[in-house]
Amino acid sequence: LLASVGRHHDHMGNEIDEQPAVAQRVLDILSPGIDGGTLWRGLGLPPLDRIDRIAVLGCGTSLHAGRAVAGVFERLGHMPTRAVTASEAAHEVWEPRTLVVALSQSGETADVLRALDTVPADRGTVLALTNNPSSSLARRAHAVIDCLAGPEIGVAATKTFVAQIVTGACVALSGLAVSARRDVAAFDADLLALGAIPETLSAALDAWHNRAKRLAADLATASGFLFLGRGSGLVYAAEGALKLKELSYRWAEHQPAGELKHGPLALVDAGTPVFVVDDGDPRLDVDIAEVRARGGRVLRIGERTLRVGGMPLHLPRRGPSWGPLETVVPLQMFARELALRLHRDVDKPRNLAKSVTVS
Ligand code: G6P
Repeated sequence: LLASVGRHHDHMGNEIDEQPAVAQRVLDILSPGIDGGTLWRGLGLPPLDRIDRIAVLGCGTSLHAGRAVAGVFERLGHMPTRAVTASEAAHEVWEPRTLVVALSQSGETADVLRALDTVPADRGTVLALTNNPSSSLARRAHAVIDCLAGPEIGVAATKTFVAQIVTGACVALSGLAVSARRDVAAFDADLLALGAIPETLSAALDAWHNRAKRLAADLATASGFLFLGRGSGLVYAAEGALKLKELSYRWAEHQPAGELKHGPLALVDAGTPVFVVDDGDPRLDVDIAEVRARGGRVLRIGERTLRVGGMPLHLPRRGPSWGPLETVVPLQMFARELALRLHRDVDKPRNLAKSVTVS
């Protein structure tokens, strides 16, 4: 069985390792359909110029993936987007001409199915983005796209997160390819970045193989963790905090880095571990200085800064519209290594289920 082959004793470790190959598979199958909008049209979706807004809907990791996908419509198409937490959708107001992108790896999450009941039939087109194209979610959506991650056995989602983002980015780019809304220069830059995803994920895996283990040993006694990000990096900070909670049972919180000064800085003390997801925003330097001034231990992920004569020099760079996806790899690896060190069952963390069919 493919799922049991790998260098780790647990499924989660192998599923983290599989991510570059999963991303490559998605790109091989879907990226030819970006040009000319054939992927979008093949899904039977209305032209993007007849859609006024995007709502991404999901729970947990799938909602984080949805936020990253929303970034593509927002940044490349200048479209209004919002993220709807499925369990909180009861009083949601659905405007006409909304594309609802419902994300769920299992396709069976009751909160997601129930949230779709609140979408009036004449208001929104529902696109299901799932790892199970024969699921309940797939059956009730207008269009379905398989995120092609293959079986994911570890309860905490890893490769399905990456697969959802790469799939969602391909679909969004395909819709934008033939849309008047498209920001042409940014679109072309994102096409290049899309093709480079498998390589950037592999590089992150290699760079963190030993580092994640060492860091977990160092931080094994820490009682709480902060995860910061700005802009497109924020969803990865959120996912890093969620993985850490799910796997290690330690407290973890994510915040937009700019909010630090409005409260969360009070949590930072000598040695408090603070992960900073770096999307290239130079303001992060100030946020980091604030943490360091209180003795916090900063762990900068995805750093794009060169040091010239001891001075930081930011590389001019506009990241892709879905954000620094590769930063999730070290965050997943760290959560897993910390959990192993604390003798947790990384494939079956307590109080979690792979598919939550109660709402
Ligand atoms: C459960 C899992 C989470 C997952 C969430 C959404 O709570 O433990 O890891 O992110 O459900 O699952 P879905 O199948 O809808 O993606």
